[in-house]
Amino acid sequence: MHRYEEIWLISGISLLVIFMLITGYQTFALDMGPPSHKETIDPQKVDQTSPFDKPGITKIGENEYEVVMTLEVFAFAPADIEIPAGSTVHFILTSKDVTHGFEVAGTNANAMVMPGYIQKITQKFSEAGEYLVVCNEYCGAGHQVMSTTIKVV
Ligand code: CUA
Repeated sequence: MHRYEEIWLISGISLLVIFMLITGYQTFALDMGPPSHKETIDPQKVDQTSPFDKPGITKIGENEYEVVMTLEVFAFAPADIEIPAGSTVHFILTSKDVTHGFEVAGTNANAMVMPGYIQKITQKFSEAGEYLVVCNEYCGAGHQVMSTTIKVV
């Protein structure tokens, strides 16, 4: 084989292996992989389906909370969540009508919430303050007023 051919072949394969190692490290060691499972729900029966029959905040551990939330035109339920600083919150979301968005301003929490699907997203709130939650998917005439707050105290 030609010398240059060898060099290109080796560097090409090496780069491939390096990228696979970086991606594997991020996915498995840093837990940065995309969600790989899909959970569905009958969007007509959200109010009757657990856990969405009882939306609210539950303490599930030391500084750990679970928030079951439903989105509909043009509100988040429950609204005005309050949690202590340093808490990790696991949000479990679904929509009762059309596609909505769930974005906590100033954080990386950002999810599309579609009817018929259960969306899960985890966010740690280290600093106290009032976090604005907005819908960032156009959902109708009241889209721009669809917001709530998370108070971290
Ligand atoms: Cu809900 Cu825009």
